[in-house]
Amino acid sequence: MNAATIPAHVPAHLVGTFPLVLGQVTEENPFDHMIPDLHNGPAAVYVPGGYLGIEGAWFFPRAVDMQNVYADTEHFSVKDFAPFSKFLGDTWSLVPAEIDPPNHGFFRAVLNPLFAPRRMAALDERVRTYARQYIDEFKDRGQCEFVNEFAFRFPIAVFLELMGLPMSKVEDFLKWEKGLLHDPNIDNIIAATRSVKDYLLEEIEDRRKNPRDDLITYGINAEIDGRKWSTDELFGFCFNLFIGGMDTVSTTVALHFRHLAEHPEDQIFLRENPDKIPLAVEELMRAYSPAMQARTCIKPVQIAGAQVMPGDKVIMTPMVANRDPAAFENPNAIILDRNPRHLNFGYGVHRCLGAPLARREVIIALEEFLKAIPLFRIAPNAKIKTFLGGVIQPDCLPLVW
Ligand code: HEM
Repeated sequence: MNAATIPAHVPAHLVGTFPLVLGQVTEENPFDHMIPDLHNGPAAVYVPGGYLGIEGAWFFPRAVDMQNVYADTEHFSVKDFAPFSKFLGDTWSLVPAEIDPPNHGFFRAVLNPLFAPRRMAALDERVRTYARQYIDEFKDRGQCEFVNEFAFRFPIAVFLELMGLPMSKVEDFLKWEKGLLHDPNIDNIIAATRSVKDYLLEEIEDRRKNPRDDLITYGINAEIDGRKWSTDELFGFCFNLFIGGMDTVSTTVALHFRHLAEHPEDQIFLRENPDKIPLAVEELMRAYSPAMQARTCIKPVQIAGAQVMPGDKVIMTPMVANRDPAAFENPNAIILDRNPRHLNFGYGVHRCLGAPLARREVIIALEEFLKAIPLFRIAPNAKIKTFLGGVIQPDCLPLVW
């Protein structure tokens, strides 16, 4: 379907716009007005081009509707929500993000122990060491460009550690991640996807011969339904960790550090009360939720008064739901001890597999940075652009102290 086509069942008065479409860039902080203001509009909007700029999609701003769609695997499918396999002309799916129940449950049963507390505790010191190494590189300089010098590199190092890949690959992964997720040019996206695929397939073959204590080997040894995973499933799993586990953490730390740089009172509070960092991270995750996903309707259903029909896309927008005044009192105030139940990691069966790791990474980044660096702020006259759609990502964050 073409981006501008409006299906016959969509009434004209529900057709509208949505500012967070892939490819858009803004010079304002989108969390200041752009996102909160979406709650002044209707509860259901059909957005031409709303899905990746290529196809129409429904947008439901209210938290209750978003939570219902996440939970509703009877009317909504996750198949093909990301475009990468299609771009290569391939048939693999992200595992488990693009697998519907009941198969999804078999994969999750195998994968859930991966980020259990015992495994996280074992990883903690390594994660802390990576954070310190990057901070050491700029801490005596009085300034850094936080996005490129820390926010991107730190989660890549953690990903390489988990996958048993060499740290010498950080720069390659940074290049691929930017090509895949932050380049508007489709040829560059395809080239980056192919590079990641070639590299991960080589590593999968290597682990078949040389098993190790890493997540690739874990996938190779795993079984579902009494059989080993196929190469497509193994690759879909590795690729899911690649797109799910790095960019989301990078942008989360960038958004949280931007908040602290712009709100010295919150920064001072956390410096004086480091034990409150885990609680504060929950509120910052509510307020600065970066990642959008999609669903495809498979059975007719009414949402927020709109008739949604099979084939319709829905854009999943936790960043908007998390600012819903019907779900959170004073939603645009950042109240560090609010301890909210938020949708940052989704909801229902597909709830983020890596949430325990993501939380540890963000908490450790804050703990180590606040210990090593004095009160920081955004460099005077800094111009920060933010990429919208997919992942809400500031292009830079120049900090001074
Ligand atoms: C702050 C960082 C993160 C955010 C905001 C985030 C957000 C999300 C969301 C919203 C979902 C649900 C997607 C849906 O329902 O369609 C999800 C799923 C997933 N995430 Fe995360 N994520 C983060 C970090 C991570 C990390 C660190 C990993 C792994 C290393 C990871 C791996 C996954 C996987 C594998 C899924 C698919 C789960 C399933 O379908 O059962 N994520 N994530």
